[in-house]
Amino acid sequence: MFDIKSLFSKKKDQLDVSPAVTAKSKENGAAPKQASKYRVALQSIASFNLKDLFPGKKQFVGLDIGSSSLKLVEIIGSKGSYSMNRFLTVPLSKGIIVDGAVVDIDALAEELSHFFNNSGCMKKSIVTSLSGHSVIIKKATFPTMDAHELQETIRDEASKYLPFDNMNDVIIVAAKKEIIEGYTEAIELLKLSLAIMDVDSFALETMYQENYEYEEKDVVVIANIGASITILNVVRNAASIFTRDFSLGGNMITEAIQSQYGVPFEEAEKIKLNGPEGDEYVKEEFFRTTLLFLADPLCSEIERSIDYFRSTYSDEDIKMILLAGGGANIPGVANDLSQRMGVSVEITNPFRTISYNRKIMNDDYIKEIAPIAAVGVGLALRKLGDK
Ligand SMILES: Nc1ncnc2c1ncn2[C@@H]1O[C@H](COP(=O)(O)OP(=O)(O)OP(=O)(O)O)[C@@H](O)[C@H]1O
Ligand SMILES: [Mg+2]
Repeated sequence: MFDIKSLFSKKKDQLDVSPAVTAKSKENGAAPKQASKYRVALQSIASFNLKDLFPGKKQFVGLDIGSSSLKLVEIIGSKGSYSMNRFLTVPLSKGIIVDGAVVDIDALAEELSHFFNNSGCMKKSIVTSLSGHSVIIKKATFPTMDAHELQETIRDEASKYLPFDNMNDVIIVAAKKEIIEGYTEAIELLKLSLAIMDVDSFALETMYQENYEYEEKDVVVIANIGASITILNVVRNAASIFTRDFSLGGNMITEAIQSQYGVPFEEAEKIKLNGPEGDEYVKEEFFRTTLLFLADPLCSEIERSIDYFRSTYSDEDIKMILLAGGGANIPGVANDLSQRMGVSVEITNPFRTISYNRKIMNDDYIKEIAPIAAVGVGLALRKLGDK
């Protein structure tokens, strides 16, 4: 069992604990049954006005602040009839977000301001997320209690009250205050309010819960390959049982192209997406073999993480791997991972149950943005106090 004291002991004043809490009923040590889930915001910012909420209607906008791009997702409607009425993305200059932390708050605020003001989005309450090594995700066990009490108890270093017969499995998420503040300050500079600070891996889980059918025993690996970070969240019955992330992503391939072709990063990024100049054969070869060859370290690391999961959770049988993030679009990666792992691999579609205007967004466009929008969709689906 995870000892909560280890989280508090050294750096108590740097940590904001009890942010995203997922509690699963586990009576008398029995296997978790129907998950009673609480997910509490990392930080709820005071400027949020409850009067702005209409019952059952979505009022938040999901803002995925990735290291290579910003993505905004707006979803309207209520459960069973969600509709995505806005998806926007713009590149983010390199060096603003590094290793999951905001390095330049003013630059982020400025880029967010352009992005948001041109988005046409009227909603002023944001749901965004953290990811990477700045976030600690640990499992712990606590007595059954309501979400508020649980949050208080975690803050009070509840381990001294353990053990009890009637226990909850809790996922504790902690992040350094200065990391959270980097994002909150940038958003506040825009005069927007931050309703929920989520975590990328849980946003993927929310997206999965909404879009995929699953049974209690179904174990699915959701792997998000971003520009600088790859995140794995293994869910069982749509609840996280294992997470892992590592600092490898699409940038690694761009950097390899950069040195191979002797071009700047931006140029290498263009070659990665459009292929090198030259005849069609050269281009075909590039997309058929070169990219996949350059992606090998990334695929190997995903394979290693899944091998580790399999050896640690030997009773669990992986049903499928869902790929998200821009890296999911690397030609051949899904197939390569499927062969390595002997499991079916699909590219995530966060719009399986969410409708959109087909006159504006055709199938090709949706196919291209689907994995990139996965985190943003999970964020846009959040409601205050829903989990
Ligand atoms: N069609 C494609 N082929 C290859 N790579 C692609 C493709 N589309 C996007 N990518 C890569 O995906 C990455 C961007 O993905 P994404 O938008 O998920 O990252 P991010 O959220 O900005 O980064 P992070 O989550 O690591 O902070 C870039 O490295 C980009 O080159
Ligand atoms: Mg990302």
